[in-house]
Amino acid sequence: MRIGIIGTGVMGAFHVKLLHEQVSGATVAAVADPDLGRATAAVAGIPGAVAFADPRQLIECTDVDAVLIASPDFLHAEQTLACIAAGKPALCEKPLSYSVEDAERVTAAHREVVGDGVPLVHQGFMRRFDPGYVEQKRVVDSGVHGRPVMVHSVGRGVETGPGATDESVIFNSAIHDLDVVPWLLGSPVTEVSWHAPETPSSTGGGLRDPFFLLLRTADGALSTVENSLNARYGYDMRSEVLCETGAVAITEPQRIVTSSTLAATADLPEDFRPRFAEAYRLELQEWVTALNEGRAPTLATVEDGAQATRVAAAAVASMRSGGAFVRVAAPGAGINAGAGTASVVGVR
Ligand SMILES: NC(=O)c1ccc[n+]([C@@H]2O[C@H](COP(=O)([O-])OP(=O)(O)OC[C@H]3O[C@@H](n4cnc5c(N)ncnc54)[C@H](O)[C@@H]3O)[C@@H](O)[C@H]2O)c1
Repeated sequence: MRIGIIGTGVMGAFHVKLLHEQVSGATVAAVADPDLGRATAAVAGIPGAVAFADPRQLIECTDVDAVLIASPDFLHAEQTLACIAAGKPALCEKPLSYSVEDAERVTAAHREVVGDGVPLVHQGFMRRFDPGYVEQKRVVDSGVHGRPVMVHSVGRGVETGPGATDESVIFNSAIHDLDVVPWLLGSPVTEVSWHAPETPSSTGGGLRDPFFLLLRTADGALSTVENSLNARYGYDMRSEVLCETGAVAITEPQRIVTSSTLAATADLPEDFRPRFAEAYRLELQEWVTALNEGRAPTLATVEDGAQATRVAAAAVASMRSGGAFVRVAAPGAGINAGAGTASVVGVR
C-alpha cells in the first residue's frame, strides 16, 4: 500500500517514521506540506518518496493509494472531502472538524460514495489501539465487575501550543476523551456540561485551564473529563472505569521508578509520542493490513469522528452558557439546524 502523508509537522513526521520503519505492507510514497523544506526533510532517506507543496497534487498522484491527513485541524474536513471525491482511502487525524455542519458534510459525502461498501475514511483516535485502554475495555466488557457507572478520564499536558483558545482545546485535545469515554462504555454521549475553577491556573496562559466536563451517556452513566493542558509537570493521561463492584484503571505503561536517597521518583513523558507510540503503530498497522486485504479496518469511523465533533460542540455551548447541560445534536441534525446544533437542557 503506497501511502501519502499530508502535513509533515510533529504528528505527520512521526507517522512517516512509523510507516517507514515499523509498519509492514506499506511504503511512504509521498508527503505534502506548503513548507516544502520540511516535507523534503521528512522523507530524507526513504527511497522513491516524493515531496509536494500542494496537498491536492498528493491526493491526485497515481502513485498514492491511500492518504494520511496530519495537517492543521481546520483543514481536515476539506482534505477529507477531497480524498472522498478522488475515491482514495483516508485516515484523518483528529478532529474531523470544529463545526458540526462540516462534519455532517463529510459524512453525507462519504455515505453517498461508499453506500454499504467498505468505508473509505477513518479517524485517528489512537487510544482505541493503546494496549492499556484495550485491556481496560476488555475487562469492563467482560462484566466481571458489574455494570460501568462512571468513567474518570484525565488529560494533563506540559503547555498548550501557540494560538490555543478555550474552544480549540476542547476540539483539539478533550476530543480524545469525548471519543474514548463512550467507546469504553459502549454508549453514546447524550448531554455535556462544562465547569472550571473560578480562578484559572496561573500557568494557563489566559485560558480557562483547567476545566472539567460532565458527560451523560445513553446507558445512564455519568463520567468526568478533566483537562489541564498547562499542568507543567508532564504529559499524564489517566483513565478509570468505576463499575458496580470494582474499578478498572490504567497505570502508565513502561514507567521506571527509581528509589534513592529516601525517595522514589518516576519519569514522565514530555508529550504524547512516547506514551502512545505503540497505539499509533498498532493503529497504522491495522489500517494498512485492512487496506491490503480489502476489508474495513477496525479504526474509529468517520461517523465516530463526526460524533466526537457533535459532543465537542455541545461542550463549547455549555462553556458559553456558564455550565448548563447541553444536549448533543442528533446525527444529521446539524445540516438543517444551522447554528442550532446543540440545545441547552438546563443546570442540574
Ligand atoms: N492523535 C493524536 O494524538 C495527535 C497528536 C498530535 C497532533 N494530532 C493532530 O495532527 C495534526 C497535526 O498536528 P501537529 O502537531 O503535527 O501540527 P504541526 O503544526 O506540527 O504541523 C502541521 C503541519 O501542517 C502543515 N500545513 C499547513 N497548511 C497545510 C496544508 N494546506 N496542507 C498540508 N499541510 C499543511 C504545516 O506546514 C506543518 O508542517 C493536527 O490536526 C493535530 O490535531 C493528533
